[in-house]
Amino acid sequence: MRMLSIVLLLAVVCPLSFAQDAPAASRSTQNNPRPFPYQHPLRLPDGSELKSRREALAARMGTGVALLLSPEKPSDVGLMRYRPDSNVYYFTGVETDPVALVLVAKDGRIADEKLFLPPDSASYALWNGKRTTAGPEAAAAAGLQADQVVTMSAPRGRPGTNFTALEEAISAGLKATGGPLFLDHVSRGSRPKAGSFDPRTSTREESVRDHFVEKQKDLKVQGLGNLAGTVRSIKSPYEIEMIQAAIDASGDGVCVMMANARPGLYEFEFMGMALGAFFERGSSGTAYAPICASGPNACVLHYDENRRRTVEGDLVLCDVGAEFGRYAADITRTFPVSGKFSDEQKRVYSTVLAAQAAAAAALKPGVSLNDLHGAAIKVIREAGFDPFRVLPHGVSHHVGLDVHDPGDQRMVPGMVITIEPGIYMQKEGFGVRIEDIYLVTADGNRCLSAQIPKTVEAVEALCGRVAR
Ligand code: GLY
Ligand code: MN
Ligand code: MN
Repeated sequence: MRMLSIVLLLAVVCPLSFAQDAPAASRSTQNNPRPFPYQHPLRLPDGSELKSRREALAARMGTGVALLLSPEKPSDVGLMRYRPDSNVYYFTGVETDPVALVLVAKDGRIADEKLFLPPDSASYALWNGKRTTAGPEAAAAAGLQADQVVTMSAPRGRPGTNFTALEEAISAGLKATGGPLFLDHVSRGSRPKAGSFDPRTSTREESVRDHFVEKQKDLKVQGLGNLAGTVRSIKSPYEIEMIQAAIDASGDGVCVMMANARPGLYEFEFMGMALGAFFERGSSGTAYAPICASGPNACVLHYDENRRRTVEGDLVLCDVGAEFGRYAADITRTFPVSGKFSDEQKRVYSTVLAAQAAAAAALKPGVSLNDLHGAAIKVIREAGFDPFRVLPHGVSHHVGLDVHDPGDQRMVPGMVITIEPGIYMQKEGFGVRIEDIYLVTADGNRCLSAQIPKTVEAVEALCGRVAR
């Protein structure tokens, strides 16, 4: 109850004081409120942080050999921004391709580890800049000794195509531990017969698996994804700082959209405002395809066409998240394009807000994501809606390097999750979703996006403020 009062108090007080006191901004968004000053230097995780992440992975593995291997780059990589694989990046901090890490664990501790990097390449440097190569600098950055970072041998000028040293490191680890071999990106189900056509055998790890199983028929192969996900789900202070930066940039985008709202704007104009704010805050872009869904489009859960022109009386559901330091935010606000909710819109909106507050009040260590869902739908049902009809999605997921980050059901301090109930009124042609991000703490939780306006009063005070 106390937590509920605090959440409600924060929800009421913060946005109102923001709406009254927000500073005027500069540059292209003059007169727009910019409540989140830029204060987040972009930093990479340091060596000791990376080391402790790998120690946590070894503790989960017990004994065996884990291979983390970057997936093949798409062929248009020179033109599209390359995003490293989240598990590889999380445990190595390396952003280039190819990269591999062999981690040998014994009784829950790191027995050996080796990082494999591509050789220097003048042609790569010409087109893409200098990449991370083996040396003391790369070793320190990754939290390793210099001799633990090696260059993938590349005879005849084909960088990264010869994996001899990598093969030797895995073999040595398997010999020392007896396995199992932990691999990411391997499909479930029976292993295809050698030589048979099977489009599932498409990842680098699957050929690694087939190679080692061919050599040692009784070798156990286990998935790495769940272990890595459990480790990744507990966020460090560094990660929380990056997520907060992504949230602040997203909140800025949300406020600019609300402040500029007026009927007649196209959905893509709202999206443009949000993306502009993201980049002005030093984000690397958007963490997922932005959803700016007006009127009936809000009932399409992952709507991303963003082409409709808004009309008087519309609600606009904007689910937008910036990416900062490779970490995602995931924020949704729904606001009246004309500045005032209708009575029916207000009834639905207030119910969604109360559902979110109920789930937030329940969030503490030990509860499950399903418990939060239960708390939210109870409020929706008691308000007279059929939750099975109006809320077809879950209300929580982990957030981190990926917007839908891996992680367990049961809440532990350090986890970062969303709470995002919605009500979608298919017949009436509008939908409401409200989404915030919460850090689980020892005694409850802290909303990391509490400063983004969301009470009816705060949203109405901000909406259309520039147009007025
Ligand atoms: N933006 C995707 C989600 O809320 O899960
Ligand atoms: Mn979400
Ligand atoms: Mn979302």
